[in-house]
Amino acid sequence: MINLPKVTDLEVGGKKVLLRLDLDIDPDPDELRIKTSEETLNYLKEKGAAIIILAHRGRPEGKIDESLSLKSFQPIFTKWEAKVEENLRFDSGEETNDPEFTRRLAEKGDVYINEAFGNSHRQHASIVGLPKLLPHAAGFRFVEEVNNLSKVFDNPKRPVLFIVGGSKKDKLDYIENLKFIADKILVGGRLPDYLQDTRYSILDTKIIVANLLPDKEDMTINSIEKFEEEIGKAGTIVLAGPMGKYEDKGHRQGTERIFKAVANSNAFKITGGGDSLSVISIYNLKNKFDWVSVGGGAMLEFLAKRTLPGIEALLC
Ligand code: 3PG
Repeated sequence: MINLPKVTDLEVGGKKVLLRLDLDIDPDPDELRIKTSEETLNYLKEKGAAIIILAHRGRPEGKIDESLSLKSFQPIFTKWEAKVEENLRFDSGEETNDPEFTRRLAEKGDVYINEAFGNSHRQHASIVGLPKLLPHAAGFRFVEEVNNLSKVFDNPKRPVLFIVGGSKKDKLDYIENLKFIADKILVGGRLPDYLQDTRYSILDTKIIVANLLPDKEDMTINSIEKFEEEIGKAGTIVLAGPMGKYEDKGHRQGTERIFKAVANSNAFKITGGGDSLSVISIYNLKNKFDWVSVGGGAMLEFLAKRTLPGIEALLC
């Protein structure tokens, strides 16, 4: 069990608190990543802390891109009297974990709280740099994420099935490690297309790779049926990413059938990540999952390595 430092252990009354959130979303107060940070925001406000929100949005690569500005989030946080700083990734120092950039960030506050589990697989200044310079703790939701996701490797109901999809190629990096906890891994979404890159040699009897339709935007019926068969046998399921270009109604078949099959199975089931959250909201499946993580890549990396750079930083 990972014993993270908690917000309740920190002296926050009258202090300037740098609160790292994950705002890599639309500015909508009903977004899960905002809703799930409310407990920490409420606690800080009750204790009389001055809240300064640090976050990133998108991948602007160190340049200012107004379309990724965080200004539109300010009204959402006004009820906590919190100030939203501009997108951290407008400065390249965030992603390079630059010491000077980190020092400038640290000067804005007295203590640091990480409530951005979904970004804690990144070795970035606001995730791994700030805890070295300021008293620090994990937010309430962060602790819950770690405790719930740990159930997948802590005496899970078998067989343990991972379904990995979406379009972020870096998810393939986790498959090698996931083999140690998974009994089966199903690979769908755009990922089968990237397997032509020989860097990823994931051939293994545990792994089933979906066949894609000629336009590569969805999987074949045969692959959908194969995936459904594995879902029916599983005791624990981790569903990470859509099975095709679900944004287009014409390419939703794989995503709809696989998400519904998982939601209706008797397994202990977890999903997470921005696109998976959109899919479960389209089909109204949220209440069918045992845990819905705010992390996509972060969830997979945590399950694959049982820790994250952001967790290690909080433990120091
Ligand atoms: C996410 O939305 O999954 C996180 O914010 C991570 O974003 P990144 O992959 O651009 O680091």
